[in-house]
Amino acid sequence: MKRLLFFTLLLIVTPLIAAQTESNKQMIKFIDSLMGRMTLEEKIGQLNLGGVGNPKVVGSAIGLDEAIKNGYVSAVGGFDINAAVDAQRFAVENSRLGIPLIIGLDVIHGYHTIFPIPLASSCSWNIPLIEKSARIAAQEAAAYGINWTFSPMVDICRDSRWGRIAEGSGEDPYLGSLIGQAMIRGYQGENLSDSTTIMACVKHFALYGASEAGRDYNTVSMDPVTMYNYYLPPYKAAFDEGAGSGMTSFNVVNGVPATGNKWLLTDLLRKEWHYEGFMVSDASSVAEMADHGMGDVQEIAELAINAGLDMDMSSSLFVLCLKEAVKNKKVTEAQINESCKRVLIAKYKLGLFQDPYRYVNNEELKTKVLSDNNCDVARQLAAESIVLLKNSDNYLPLNTNQKIAVVGPLGNVKGSLLGTWSYGFSENRMNTIYEALQEILAGKGEATYSKGANFTEDYCIYDGQYTLPTESLIKQALIDVKDADIIIATVGEPSSWSGEARSRVNPALPECQKEMLRELKKLDKPIVLAILSGRPLILTDEDRDFSTIVMAWHGGTMAAEALSDVLFGVTNPSGKTTTTFPRHLGQIPIYYNSLNTGRPYSDFWATTKYIDCSNEPLYPFGYGLSYNNYIYDKPILNKYIAYGDNDSIKISIDITNSGVYLGQEIVQLYIGDPVASISRPIKELKAFKKIELLPGETKTVDFHLKVDLFKYYNECLKYDWDEGGFDIFIGPNSKDVQTSKIIWKKHDKI
Ligand code: NOJ
Repeated sequence: MKRLLFFTLLLIVTPLIAAQTESNKQMIKFIDSLMGRMTLEEKIGQLNLGGVGNPKVVGSAIGLDEAIKNGYVSAVGGFDINAAVDAQRFAVENSRLGIPLIIGLDVIHGYHTIFPIPLASSCSWNIPLIEKSARIAAQEAAAYGINWTFSPMVDICRDSRWGRIAEGSGEDPYLGSLIGQAMIRGYQGENLSDSTTIMACVKHFALYGASEAGRDYNTVSMDPVTMYNYYLPPYKAAFDEGAGSGMTSFNVVNGVPATGNKWLLTDLLRKEWHYEGFMVSDASSVAEMADHGMGDVQEIAELAINAGLDMDMSSSLFVLCLKEAVKNKKVTEAQINESCKRVLIAKYKLGLFQDPYRYVNNEELKTKVLSDNNCDVARQLAAESIVLLKNSDNYLPLNTNQKIAVVGPLGNVKGSLLGTWSYGFSENRMNTIYEALQEILAGKGEATYSKGANFTEDYCIYDGQYTLPTESLIKQALIDVKDADIIIATVGEPSSWSGEARSRVNPALPECQKEMLRELKKLDKPIVLAILSGRPLILTDEDRDFSTIVMAWHGGTMAAEALSDVLFGVTNPSGKTTTTFPRHLGQIPIYYNSLNTGRPYSDFWATTKYIDCSNEPLYPFGYGLSYNNYIYDKPILNKYIAYGDNDSIKISIDITNSGVYLGQEIVQLYIGDPVASISRPIKELKAFKKIELLPGETKTVDFHLKVDLFKYYNECLKYDWDEGGFDIFIGPNSKDVQTSKIIWKKHDKI
C-alpha cells in the first residue's frame, strides 16, 4: 500500500519538477541573453532603487526621468502611485532595453484596508487570519500598481521604548517565525507572477530590534548564542519560506554596519542559509556607513557590494561609484553580474518581462479595495488582537441600555487609531470610537464624548488646531460625565508616536492623561480603560487604580468597531500579549525567555530582587483574559521517556469553558532544558493551539513533541540537543503553567 502511494506520488511530482526545471531553464536563458546585451552601467543601474542623487552625498540630483532613461534605475518607491505608473511607462518606453521597474512601498499592515499594527495582530496568535490579512494587503496594493512590499518586519524586540516594536511580532522567535512566514505566503501566494500577489521583503537583517536603549538606528551588541537562538530564527524562517527579497538594517552587527557586513550578507545568508533572493539596503544605509566610520563614498559603496548587498536604496552610491570601482579592480564585474542577475530574476518571477503593466491595469481588482469582505477581515483581526488585561469587577461585557461616557484624546479621532505606516487609509470608511459606540447603542442606550485631555502637555497643537489646556478639558469632562452609568477612558498614544524614529524614553501614559484618569476616578463611577497605543505601555499606576483594562493597540480601519465588539461581548476577547509588559521603566529589557541567574529570586535569595521594585513583569508574555474562565485539567503524557531522533511524545490536556460565552483560548506549550551544555532559558514557547469552546464545552488539546523542539545553538554554534530531562509547561500564559517532566535519551539502552 505504502509503495503504491509512493509511486503514485512520484508520478504526480516528477512532471511538476520537470516543468519547474524547464521554466527555470527558460528564465535563466532569458536573463543570460538580456545580460549579454547590457552595458556595465546598465547592470549597475539594476542595483539602484530611487532616483539618482542623494543630496547628503552628491549634492544635486538628476531628474528621475533622465536617470530612468539612462538605465540607472531598477526600482522606485510607489508613494505616489500615479508617478510610479508613469515611471514604469517611461522605463519601458524610453530606456534602451526597456527593462521594467519594480515598484515598492511599505505596505506594512494593509494598504487601503488597514489591519491592526503587526504587534497587535501578533496578539491574535491567529496565523491563518494574519495570512489572510497579508493576502488582502497584497491584492489592494497590486490593484494600485505596487508589486513589492517592504514587509514583513521580523525583528525580535524586548524593549518597548523602541518605536518600531509596533511593526514586529513581539519578543518570541517561534511565534515571530510563524507570523513572518504566514505574511510571506499571504503576500506572495502560490505564484509571484499572478497580478494579485506582490513580492515580500524580509527586514531588517539583522538584529535591528535590539538597538541599545531602544533608541532608533542605535548600536546593537549581542553575543552569538543570543543571536542564533533568539534573534536570527525569524529571518531564517522567512527566507526559507521563499521571500523574494530582504532588507538590511541600519545598525551594526559585530561592529560592522549590516549593509556592509560580509559575514552577515554572504557567509551567513548565502553560504549557510543558501538564500537566493536579492538584498536591498535600508533607505540611505549605504551612504550612512560614512557616519559609521567605514570610509568615503567610494569606499562604502565598494564595502556594500563586496559584502553581498544587491541593491542600494536611495543612496545612489552604486550608480555613482561602482563603475569606477570595477575600473580600479576594487569590485569585480562578476560581483555586479551576480547581483544584477538576482534582481532580474525577481523581475522575471513577478512576471514583469511578460507584461510590465500587469500591476497597473487591474481595474477589477480596484473595485475590491476596501470591500465589505476586506473590512470584515480587518474587524475580526482587530478584535482578536485586543487583549483584556483586567476585568476584576466584571464591568465587561457592557450592555447596550446604558449611558456611556467616552472620555479621552483617542475617543473621537480616526487617523490616530490606525497605527504607523498607514498610507492609503480612507477616513470615509472609518468610525471613531465614539461613533461606533453610538451605533451599537442606537435606540437603547446613549453615548457622550469629552476629550478630557490632550495627548501630552508638550503639544499645544492637536490635529492642526490649538487645543484647550488639559485643566479645562478635565473640568468639562467631569461635567459631561455626570449622568453616565459607565465611563470608557480612551487613552494612550496617537499613531505618530510609534514606528520609525519614534523612540520614547518613558513608554507610559503621559502625565496629563494620568491626571485626567485620577480626576475621573474620584467620581466613583465604573471606569473601563481602553488603551490604544503602538507599544506595550507601563501601566502599573493604572493597574493599581482601575479594575478594567483593555489593550486595544492601534487597530487600523476597523479599530473602533473591533473595540466596540469586544466591549459589548460581540467578540469575546482572546488576544494574548506577545511582549512582556514591564511594571517599571528600569526593568527594560524584560522578556519571558530569559536565563536563570545563579541566584534565582526566592526567599533565600531575596536580595536578588530590585530593592525598589519587584522583578516580575506587570503582565507576562502570553497573557490575556476572556469573559470566560478556562479550566486546564492535568496534562497527560503518553510516555515519560523517548529515545533518539525519530521518537515522539504526546502530551494532552483537557480545557473546559466554565463560562457562559462562546470563546477562544490560546493554549501554550513551553519547554525548559534545566541541564544543558549552556545555560538555557527557563521557558521557551514551542507550540500553541487556538481553540474555540462553547459554554460548558471541554476539548482535548494534543501536542506531539519531537526532539527537534529541544535543539539549540551551543557556544560553538552547533545546533543539537542534550539528552536528559526536560520540563514541559502548559498554560494560558507563560507564567501560570503546569509542569510535566520528560526524559529524552540519545539511544535506546539495550
Ligand atoms: C526606512 C525603514 O527603516 C524601512 O523599514 C522602510 O522599508 C524604508 N525606510 C522604506 O520606506
